[in-house]
Amino acid sequence: MKQTWKQTAIIVFLLLFALQTWMTYQQYKGSGLSRVPESRHGAGGFISSAHASVGNPSPVGSLKPVQVSGENLPMYRTTDELRLYPAVEKGLRTPFDLWRYYGKGKTTFGTPVLPMRFDQWIEFHQKQKPELMKDVRAYMNSRFNFSGAVIPGQMMSGGRKAVMAGPVARLPAEVESYESLAGLTAEEIRRRDLFPYKPLAHPIQTTAHMLFPDSWTAVHPEHKRIDVDMDFPDAYLPEFPPPLFLTTHKELGDISGGQEISFDNYYEIFDGLITPEQMEGLKELLRPSPTTWFNQTQHRLTSQPSDGVACLDCHVNGHTNGAIELGPDSRPNMARLRVDTPTLRGNFNLMQLSSKRSIRSLDHFAEIEEYFDGDPGMQQAIGPRAVKREVSNRMADFNAIIDYPPAPKLSPMMRLIPSMATEQELRGEKLFHGKAQCSACHYGPAFVDDYMHDLKVERFYVGRPEGPIKTFPLRGIRDSPPYLHDGRAPTLHDAVEFFNLVLELQLSRSEKDDLVAFLLCL
Ligand code: HEC
Ligand code: HEC
Repeated sequence: MKQTWKQTAIIVFLLLFALQTWMTYQQYKGSGLSRVPESRHGAGGFISSAHASVGNPSPVGSLKPVQVSGENLPMYRTTDELRLYPAVEKGLRTPFDLWRYYGKGKTTFGTPVLPMRFDQWIEFHQKQKPELMKDVRAYMNSRFNFSGAVIPGQMMSGGRKAVMAGPVARLPAEVESYESLAGLTAEEIRRRDLFPYKPLAHPIQTTAHMLFPDSWTAVHPEHKRIDVDMDFPDAYLPEFPPPLFLTTHKELGDISGGQEISFDNYYEIFDGLITPEQMEGLKELLRPSPTTWFNQTQHRLTSQPSDGVACLDCHVNGHTNGAIELGPDSRPNMARLRVDTPTLRGNFNLMQLSSKRSIRSLDHFAEIEEYFDGDPGMQQAIGPRAVKREVSNRMADFNAIIDYPPAPKLSPMMRLIPSMATEQELRGEKLFHGKAQCSACHYGPAFVDDYMHDLKVERFYVGRPEGPIKTFPLRGIRDSPPYLHDGRAPTLHDAVEFFNLVLELQLSRSEKDDLVAFLLCL
């Protein structure tokens, strides 16, 4: 009897073991690198549109698509014109025209596990990166004419970098001019695929996240990625390092003295000028912490382990170096909008922070900053960034004294002082408050209304709607190219062309130039 009981127990144990092995096999069999799913949407979703015809990405190397996204999508597709996101694993290239795709991801949660060994990961990117960058450059040049033309006599606030002239977005060959394009209806522009300001995606949206400009990685090689480089030429990005102005010390002008403020020099520069709370906050804004892909683990895209990234590594000197990220507010990662770093100048005047999250306070922002570790699962692996409330409050205390650059031509009512302005600037101001309707959303001390607006840009191209985006302030705007949340309008001229089309304003060439002249005064 005793013997039989023992035998039964062993048999049950063996059966359970076999069952568990089988279940583990079932769970992991689809996640290997060898399985290629039957494609549900043509060539893995890599079909090009007019613009994306340059450098269609195709899976390279040993990685093969494994994830069929959208299989379990609810059946409320809005349009038959969109395609399902391509089935691609971490590290693989994604289409540049991601706006044409939609779908559901495999899961909401991230994992620190790479799809291959770390040495293979490095090798894979060493092979893929040159091909990717060749296609990225070709794609960007197909969308924009980065001629290097500047607006004569117009410099950014630090006086070290010229303001670039535009519009640089290329018109399709069959369109004669921006004015003739603006004469067409939205429907026709969409049907004929003529819109020059479609969204920009991250150049590799499976690894995505922080991507720093060349001017930054030249002095911060620890932030140079093994998989991708910045797609914008430096000339079309903000001045580096930018000047820093304090609301509390206008008499001093640029506090930075042309240097990048860092752990090494901040104390010397600010001691005796700011409060102890602000000093402590500034130190925390300069302190690197682990982030997705920039940390000490092997879930990284830098050849060497790094301490991570600090707030002022993107918001350098309280402004921006033009680094990009993905908006943290959606999943799957391929649905996340590319966002370029906004300035922190004048944040004390904003009621709404970040393009979509509508965060209402600076201290809250510092506390939850999600680019770093928005995924609790990842946090365990790459290291948490635990900012206590009193620390984030102090970070906000420093943030709250970062001023706009001087605008000597503006009166306290934010109007041009006639004796200081040119005829053209005054004409531009009249248009801004009148025919061009800019002041409907851009008004007050920061030229912002603190609302989110759905500009419904998808009326002009076949694509997934981007939904409401917050109005960005226009004070000091000359210093913050490229424009719009993803930088798709590289110059102020492009931003004006964008609104001329989207608001259907029918402005003449010279009226648009007048508006740019006014924007340069803000
Ligand atoms: C990758 C570079 C990067 C780093 C590092 C970074 N930010 Fe940002 N920051 C951004 C981007 C991109 C946005 C726009 C986010 C959006 O639209 O959702 C942003 C937005 C903001 C805003 C809102 C600005 C506005 O006009 O709406 C604040 C405030 C801010 N960041 C503070 C911080 C703080 C504090 C830290 C450190 C904890 C930090 N940032 C680190 C890139 C960065
Ligand atoms: C209906 C409200 C609305 C009107 C009217 C409007 N804007 Fe805007 N503006 C926005 C929103 C919203 C954004 C951010 C859009 C985005 O990032 O996708 C924006 C962004 C901008 C930017 C880029 C800011 C940055 O930091 O990148 C510029 C420049 C600009 N607007 C200029 C103008 C001009 C010039 C006019 C008039 C011709 C105008 N806007 C009319 C709402 C408006």
